[in-house]
Amino acid sequence: MLGYGVGLRRQHYSHVLETRPQVDWFEVVSENFMVAGGRALEVLEGVRASYPIAMHGVSMSIGSTDPLNRDYLKQLRDLARRFEPAWISDHLCWTGVGGRNLHDLLPLPYTEEAIRHVVARIREVQDALERPILIENVSSYMAFADSTMTEWEFISAIADEANCGILLDINNIFVSAFNHRFDANEYIDAMPAERVVQYHLAGHSDHGTYLLDTHDHPVRDEVWALFERAVRRFGAVSAIVEWDDNIPEFAELANIAERARDIFNEYSTKTTGKPALPADHRA
Ligand SMILES: [Fe+2]
Repeated sequence: MLGYGVGLRRQHYSHVLETRPQVDWFEVVSENFMVAGGRALEVLEGVRASYPIAMHGVSMSIGSTDPLNRDYLKQLRDLARRFEPAWISDHLCWTGVGGRNLHDLLPLPYTEEAIRHVVARIREVQDALERPILIENVSSYMAFADSTMTEWEFISAIADEANCGILLDINNIFVSAFNHRFDANEYIDAMPAERVVQYHLAGHSDHGTYLLDTHDHPVRDEVWALFERAVRRFGAVSAIVEWDDNIPEFAELANIAERARDIFNEYSTKTTGKPALPADHRA
């Protein structure tokens, strides 16, 4: 349990290095640091000296039918050997096919065939990275007519069969539930508790007939309500806030992390009589 943290973004590099703000941990985007040298790696060294980190990728394309990119996996493994993240995660999606990159996190058909395909690839990735990974549920805007199960059945089966963890993006569940008209509570309730290792909290934009996962707004009240449900069901699980556009001052992100901690401590006080995770627990 790393506690409550923030997704590290370029705009906050100097602030974080100069002031060492009181957050529990940082999630870093792996690809930003898969470079030979320079400022990015210096920043990561500085951050890592004071905080635990997890590495979160966007380019694994675990669902694609293209061969896994061995150079990418080797670079990722080398970065992990150097910076010792608590874990490595990426998305349950595909980002391209036929050698073309679509620069988007695209959903899969929820079928037995896709489960077998993805499970085999996660196992290969875990061997190459020398550790288990977490897979994250993505938000989506279309569904495949071929699907034979729900998204939560699909991700649960993959995590079980590949023996990997789940990074549960609470906002993505809310966005997809609205777009596809399913019950977000049912999704949370169906997750295998022992596999949920991390949460993402984020904002989205509301286009009336659909929601778009833009990470450019505060976390919505309905998403906080879903987070509370997740905390009641899964207990102590690490969380971070993701914000990728119109990025606010660091303090606003830290406040979201603190609100998540307060919700967890309120739950913990109710069930055990004492808060589990005071803000100074790193010390
Ligand atoms: Fe996410």
